[in-house]
Amino acid sequence: MSKQRDQWSSSLGFILAAAGSAVGLGNLWKFPYITWENHGGGFVLVYLVCIAVIGMPIMMAEILIGRRAQASPVPALEKMSKGLPGGKWWSVVGWMGVIAGLVILSFYAVVAGWSISSFINCINWSLNGFDGGQDFGGFVGNGPLQVGLAFVFSTVTAFIVMGGISGGIEKATKVLMPVLLGILVLLVLNSFTLDGASQALAFLFTPSAINSHGLLEALGHSFFTLSLGMGAMITYGSYMGRHDSIVKSSIAIVLLDTLIAIMACIIMFSILFTFPQVRDSMGKSTAGMLFVTLPQMFYTGMPAGKIFAPIFYVLVGFAALSSTISLLEVVVSLLVDKLEWTRIKSTSVAASTIFVFSTFCALSNGAVDFFSGLKPFGQATEGFLFKLNETFFANKAGFMNLFDHMASNWFLPVGGMLITLFVGWILPSRISAEELDLLDENGNPNKFFQVLLFSLRFLAPLAIGYIIMMVILGRDF
Ligand code: PFF
Ligand code: NA
Repeated sequence: MSKQRDQWSSSLGFILAAAGSAVGLGNLWKFPYITWENHGGGFVLVYLVCIAVIGMPIMMAEILIGRRAQASPVPALEKMSKGLPGGKWWSVVGWMGVIAGLVILSFYAVVAGWSISSFINCINWSLNGFDGGQDFGGFVGNGPLQVGLAFVFSTVTAFIVMGGISGGIEKATKVLMPVLLGILVLLVLNSFTLDGASQALAFLFTPSAINSHGLLEALGHSFFTLSLGMGAMITYGSYMGRHDSIVKSSIAIVLLDTLIAIMACIIMFSILFTFPQVRDSMGKSTAGMLFVTLPQMFYTGMPAGKIFAPIFYVLVGFAALSSTISLLEVVVSLLVDKLEWTRIKSTSVAASTIFVFSTFCALSNGAVDFFSGLKPFGQATEGFLFKLNETFFANKAGFMNLFDHMASNWFLPVGGMLITLFVGWILPSRISAEELDLLDENGNPNKFFQVLLFSLRFLAPLAIGYIIMMVILGRDF
């Protein structure tokens, strides 16, 4: 029973699609605001180390599992672990990934919806003049609007996923990714003309103190931003051509993702350091940085900003779309491969289920008190239950915040840990070396592979384990 699997039309197609999955709201929306909240430099440094010693190897591990097995995460892990220690149990990684995908997509669709409304606002501001910007609290507190925007975004995602892989996804990313990069470069150049630019760079690159929650957030975000730890790259790898280089593609994807995240910070922080009133008015709603702070630069600090603003939010929307597509694809490909449902049925069922949770997220930023104030272990301000909220959720409240925290900081690192253990210790290294094309002339794994294997066996699992332990013990630095 070997069905011909859909394939990327070229290796560039794979790189762009995987980069499309990686580059998204994680870079443009999330990274700048969590970096701001975690005081810059130290957080950025830990993040970069996580990307290099944990993210990069795990990216290669995931893609190689997918391509070798030619299947989505659950069947892929079943197939690859056959006859090895642990056997079928390794496929729990795939199941966890599907749950993580559901959770992430639920809140991601809400934020993605914000790009639609920012686009509309910008059209209005470009035509009729800038009125000082949007009241972010009022906007996210508007329940029907929030649910509506998330619905529009989820529906578009579902239709594209129904259409299959190589057609839609690949074509769109091929055009949009370079345009997004181009506009970001313009924005960075422009931010260098602002007075706050040097302060922004100093904030970003001067090491600062970081506590254990910050460590976990940097680690979790390195998974989130690279779409790792939940099988998205296993899924995309399964559509990759036999002769394309996994190593080179992974390096390209990781560099591109990191570059874009850093550029987003330079842009955002230059504005914050240039316009103190913007920084003060932002207050606690740092999550609105991409949507509220940035228009300030377009309309008051950039020549021709009027023209770029609406285009930029269209691109943000598309960057988000190429990520939501990959999230939904993880869930859908499982239903197709495991239950043998049709693509249409799988997509409809998955998307509607996710939309229910999206609704809770959409209502949790001020619209409905119950969702906005929700804490998993109750509202206690001291005692054991408080400790649990503190340890596992950094004492965050609100359905969307909790979903985000749970997925990025727990599901993905744990999923990533299992993947790195599987490829590092269980899968015969001959198979990985062969799949990665890292054999020397005698057919033995080469030096580069040894370094990679060291990372997969020791560095990555120990670093993840160490950080999780620090959080559980409540240690600070
Ligand atoms: N990497 C995406 C981003 O940075 O926006 C988010 C994401 C997409 C996470 C796909 C996980 C995933 F499977
Ligand atoms: Na990303």
